[in-house]
Amino acid sequence: MQNIDANWRTPWLSGSEGPEKYLKNLLDYAVDAAMETTGSDACAILLVDERRQTLTLKSCKGLHGTAASAVRLPKGRGASWRIVREKKPVALSDVTSDPDFIPIPQAGEERYVSMMGVPILKDDECIGVLFVEDSEKREYTPEDVTDLEHVAKKYASSINAAWDFERLNEKTRSLSILNDLNHIVSATNNLQEIVNHLLYFTTELTCARTRIIWLTDESNEVLTKHFPESTGDDEWMAPVRNGIVTHVARTHETVRIDDIHSDNPFEGLDRVASTSVLCHPLVFENRVKGVLLLADRITGLGDYCVAFSGEEAQMVESLAQTAAQAISRVKVYQKLEKAVEDNQAKANELSILFQLGMAMQRTVSMDDLLRVILSCVTVGKGLGFNRAILFFLNETDGLLHGVMGLGPDTGDDANRIWADINHEFGEQPDLVQWLLNRDPYEIANSSFNALAKSLTIPMDGKNIVAQAVKTKTATCVKNLRSLTEQDYDLISKLNCQEFAVAPLVARNMHIGAILVDNSFNKKPITESDLKLLVRFAAPAAWGIENIKLVERLSVVNKEMLEIDRNMAQIERLSTLGEVSAEMAHEIKNPLVTIGGFARRLLRKMPSSKAEVKYASIIVQEVERLERLLRNTLDVSRMAPMKKENTDLNRLVREALDFYWRMLYEKSIQANYRLSPDLAPVFIDQAQIRQVVINLILNSIEAMSCDRHNTQKTITIETEPVKGDQEKALLKISDTGGGITERDFDNIFNPFFTTKPHGTGLGLPLCKKLIATHQGSMKIDNKLGVGVTFTITLPCCDLSKKFQ
Ligand SMILES: Nc1ncnc2c1ncn2[C@@H]1O[C@H](COP(=O)(O)OP(=O)(O)OP(=O)(O)O)[C@@H](O)[C@H]1O
Ligand SMILES: [Mg+2]
Repeated sequence: MQNIDANWRTPWLSGSEGPEKYLKNLLDYAVDAAMETTGSDACAILLVDERRQTLTLKSCKGLHGTAASAVRLPKGRGASWRIVREKKPVALSDVTSDPDFIPIPQAGEERYVSMMGVPILKDDECIGVLFVEDSEKREYTPEDVTDLEHVAKKYASSINAAWDFERLNEKTRSLSILNDLNHIVSATNNLQEIVNHLLYFTTELTCARTRIIWLTDESNEVLTKHFPESTGDDEWMAPVRNGIVTHVARTHETVRIDDIHSDNPFEGLDRVASTSVLCHPLVFENRVKGVLLLADRITGLGDYCVAFSGEEAQMVESLAQTAAQAISRVKVYQKLEKAVEDNQAKANELSILFQLGMAMQRTVSMDDLLRVILSCVTVGKGLGFNRAILFFLNETDGLLHGVMGLGPDTGDDANRIWADINHEFGEQPDLVQWLLNRDPYEIANSSFNALAKSLTIPMDGKNIVAQAVKTKTATCVKNLRSLTEQDYDLISKLNCQEFAVAPLVARNMHIGAILVDNSFNKKPITESDLKLLVRFAAPAAWGIENIKLVERLSVVNKEMLEIDRNMAQIERLSTLGEVSAEMAHEIKNPLVTIGGFARRLLRKMPSSKAEVKYASIIVQEVERLERLLRNTLDVSRMAPMKKENTDLNRLVREALDFYWRMLYEKSIQANYRLSPDLAPVFIDQAQIRQVVINLILNSIEAMSCDRHNTQKTITIETEPVKGDQEKALLKISDTGGGITERDFDNIFNPFFTTKPHGTGLGLPLCKKLIATHQGSMKIDNKLGVGVTFTITLPCCDLSKKFQ
């Protein structure tokens, strides 16, 4: 035995290095001493970790320098663990003869044949192993063993103290990392950020090659998502999730595998690990929030992966606690945030419904109501869609007709109008009134409104909108592949990718639909957007239905008034009929006598006499009185009708041609637009001719006054009534300047005339004759331009038809 004591130095006496180098220096000295003492080719020291889970090679000579601190032997593995367990030396002249001996090629151990190892004991506890190796086969003597034991013993206390000190240092570093993590994750409520920090700090603490976190879903049960997602797609990871991860989540127990080749009860684990695994549940308040899986503790030896040390496992445990707490906090925060959002949406919704309710109470104009409805749907503080269109169902033609569209025409418009609305609306508590007054989309000039109004959608066709109305169900169109040709047609006209439709239903009847899109900001239409639209569509439909009722009521009211007026007129006419019949009888004979004598006087009198003038006045006035008498009798008398199929075109042409000379003299141009497709009308020819003549004369008279200086035109048109083959239209228009508003209300009153020689019975007679033909007469009066009388007459023998 050599006197080794003399050569041994105490590391902390060498002075220049700091305390963190103590262990390394100390171990290096011990290794030198062992090699010197035994004369071996290589020497190494392995130390047991605090939790007695791994043996780590801390210092060596004759092996690769990088092996120090890199090589780790998991518990129980190799001859070294046998030394730790049995606290007895091992001397092997041929290492291959011992099945426990597993050489580590990465450390350069392959070239050694013989090996001798002794425990490093401190107070009867084995804190490590000191071994030497020789490349030539060597039979170690008991003295060799004792020498090595002597070295181990000599250094044991110092190594123990320095090893404790290093571990303490390491622990402090880890705790400070954990502390940093704690601070960082408490500063954010973003789950993705927290996960990223966790993954980063895990690397700092453990040097694991693979790090994956799974999180539980809302119910805290199913593990839904793993991070980072680049670790593999879900299918590939499924065996890992269904195996070890689910096991850890269910049992709340950590699984630690030092070498999956010798000990792996979980299927699919080799997809993410090649040696060691540490799988930790993230548990907070006894509920699992996720699972952290670490695999392959990498070292400085390239691909050499080793088991996680006990200290690392302990740090991961602390990290898992921090993580679980942070994740739990974020989830609570997210729930709160969602609740706040929901409340905000509810408040918004209520406010919009309230505003709509107010609008429905206030407005009786359909146009205003439609604007309010569409504004509520599109304005940012309302439902917030970009554009909206209202369709009404017309039961007669079976089509949905676009009635109004609200939305910007271009992206620039969108930005400008929305900014304007947001800016100005801020101070306006009354959305409805503000929108009605402001008309931010200038609906009258809006091309989107024009487009909306041009849209028709067949109810019996295959398309989403009709389907939504028929089934009374709202739909959102996202999948363009499942659309029909009619849908594509609509989409291309609207130039949008996605839209939603909600039916308008009131009193269980289809009224129409409301269509919305987000074609400018491209915001996807969510389930909750659609729900809100449906909730909004219900009161909107009721509002529309109410206004329709009001409109119908006012039409009925007008009709009632008209009937009242007609009744009064009929009463007057019937009284007039009785009086006039008597008067006619009394006046007719003396008038004929007066007229006869006056005409005779006129013929006999020489034309030079001044009395000729008086006689001709008498003749003229008598003629006027005769006409008055005739008209009065026509209006009052119910002359029997002689109806026959008549060519209306011929009748009107003959009637107007009769007055060609008058037209010519008064420079009035006559225009005919007579439809060749007109079916014969079933009329009393004399009576309808009378009507046409009365109207022609009125027009000629209207264009005869001196102040009339525009082009004088009388136009007569005939055409079949659209959609009703059994009726014909007759229009007589002039450019006589129209009728003043004050006169207009009186023109059908008997004896109302604005002409010096008029009887005021022309139009009442026309009205009566048309009515007895079951026809109708409408007047389009354009003051300053002229009047158009439109008459409808039956085309076939209606009485026969209904027999
Ligand atoms: N085409 C028309 N343009 C302008 N005013 C018209 C026209 N037709 C009728 N009127 C107005 O209606 C009034 C009533 O017409 P109506 O034919 O009943 O009586 P009249 O023409 O005045 O008398 P009569 O028919 O006996 O000559 C007219 O006096 C005239 O003021
Ligand atoms: Mg007239």
